[in-house]
Amino acid sequence: MCGIVGYIGEKNSNEVIFNGLTRLEYRGYDSAGIGVQDNGIQQVKTAGKVADLIKACQLENFPQSQVGIGHTRWATHGVPNNLNAHPHKDNSGKFTLVHNGIIENYLSIRKLLSKNGIECKSETDTEVLVQLIGYIYNKENISFEEAVRSALVEVIGAYGIVVLCSDEPNKMVAAKKGSPLVLGVGENEFIIASDTSPIINYTRKIIYLDDGEILICDKNNFAVKNIDENIEVSKTINEIKYSLDQIEKSGYDHFMLKEIHEQPTSIAESMRGRIIKNDGKIKLGGLQDHLHDILNTKRIIITACGTSWHAGLIGSYVIEELVRMPVNVEYASEFRYRETVVGPDTVIFAISQSGETADTLAAIKKAKSLGALTVGIVNTVGSSIARETDCGVYIHAGPEIGVASTKAFTSQVTVLNLIAILMAQVKDQNIKEVSHLINDLELLPQKVNEILTNTDEIQEVAKHFIDAENFLYLGRGYQFPVALEGALKLKEISYIHAEGYPAAEMKHGPIALIDENMPVVFIVTKKGYEKILSNIKEVTSRGGKVIIITSFDRDELYEISKFVIKVPEIHQCILPILTTIPLQILAYNIAKNKGCNVDQPRNLAKSVTVE
Ligand code: M6R
Repeated sequence: MCGIVGYIGEKNSNEVIFNGLTRLEYRGYDSAGIGVQDNGIQQVKTAGKVADLIKACQLENFPQSQVGIGHTRWATHGVPNNLNAHPHKDNSGKFTLVHNGIIENYLSIRKLLSKNGIECKSETDTEVLVQLIGYIYNKENISFEEAVRSALVEVIGAYGIVVLCSDEPNKMVAAKKGSPLVLGVGENEFIIASDTSPIINYTRKIIYLDDGEILICDKNNFAVKNIDENIEVSKTINEIKYSLDQIEKSGYDHFMLKEIHEQPTSIAESMRGRIIKNDGKIKLGGLQDHLHDILNTKRIIITACGTSWHAGLIGSYVIEELVRMPVNVEYASEFRYRETVVGPDTVIFAISQSGETADTLAAIKKAKSLGALTVGIVNTVGSSIARETDCGVYIHAGPEIGVASTKAFTSQVTVLNLIAILMAQVKDQNIKEVSHLINDLELLPQKVNEILTNTDEIQEVAKHFIDAENFLYLGRGYQFPVALEGALKLKEISYIHAEGYPAAEMKHGPIALIDENMPVVFIVTKKGYEKILSNIKEVTSRGGKVIIITSFDRDELYEISKFVIKVPEIHQCILPILTTIPLQILAYNIAKNKGCNVDQPRNLAKSVTVE
């Protein structure tokens, strides 16, 4: 949460910062701010979006500069107002700072500052850090860099920060621990940001900062040092691999819609080069060296949050079915604090689109410390989770900007299927079934495309239900996680309360909610058809309105409901991909018809880097 950008070079830093913040807005959009060097530090901060900040700067004739920092906030400590917006200045006015993360010991630092006559003005945890830097600098008469480093040694918590100091106007200092920071290395310029999207316009050369590192740069040179030991570390220059149009809306109304429609391609990308044509074997380079350990483990635990957790649940079903190994699925936020039985005989699969989710990252660190092998299933190349895990498989879905995850989910499920197939092939297990699944995987992008080329019916269904206040989503077996995912999509972007349940569990409680105002979405497939048909009847006989998503086209379904959405048939292990897509489109259209901000739903942020 929170996006930060810093620029030092020869361009107008305002432009680089505004463009960068606009791209980073998916990380938080409660308030925004900019600070630049111009005969001292000048800054403007506004509650609201980056567009409001840009307007405010135009009104104030905000000065142009070649050194500046900017921030877009997802509020943790302190309401989203101008005062709590970043950048924060120290009381001497010499330092300004933007921060992503949480300073956990901010209260004790605030007390220490107060004892020394320094009072904070905002309610944020961040302000104490810049005040501490100012305090140390003025008291100890040390350099800008040293003051930042000394202050960071006192800090407990997570941070990605960029700091400016008016006494050294041609320098920028940044540091990272637990929140992402990437340095773009340009010609006579550097851009530091929370991810690569603000950088790609200017350079493709990037350096990932690691935890515990501090960066010092002017427009021509940079150095990265270890915060604790103050020793310079050498860094590898990487290259941004995606193209600019992948992070632009390209004519779509919303990123979410674009990403839904990208799924035939993103799924194909997830499989590209991984199914060997002549023998149908699966090749996953990132797992090669660890396959033996994975297959000989006693226990697999899949851990993740949100939508990635739903994908993990499907993955657990596929692995248990094809490989016959026990798999547990745990919310990372629970796993990290629970007394779990984890050791060297456990393998952890951690799934994350962003690769930055704090709970998932902490779960991985815990598992590693207990001796488990950790495997990342990640979208964002070079992200913290990708680097923290022992090995892994990128899902290659391409950048996902919409806060509601869509194409990452279908690619996660695709990759989990590839992993399960590979494991089954090496174990020589269920080979006939596996080869049937491989054939169907190859047909998958085409079948996804079939759903996406005709969405009129789903749009019609959406129109009927924009005033609903609650929704139930029910599915059995592989379709239960789909029910959870459908419900999550709807509540995230339309603010309609929605619950996902195993269809058979309905009679153990949720059935009490059924009345003529309760739409119930059933995901109906061939497997368990009769059983789910009975569940549908239980709802209709109580006046509930039923929407059916089905791969098993039966006349009686049309007699029960006028809202039947058909998807193509495919192997049951990947059928969740096809049944989820109409639910994404349904949620999107309901939210859009209600006038909700689809790409930036209230209170949410794309990557959740706090607990
Ligand atoms: O980046 P991650 O996959 O680790 O994110 C996990 C969740 O925060 C994420 O899936 C969230 O639930 C999405 N907003 C769902 O659409």
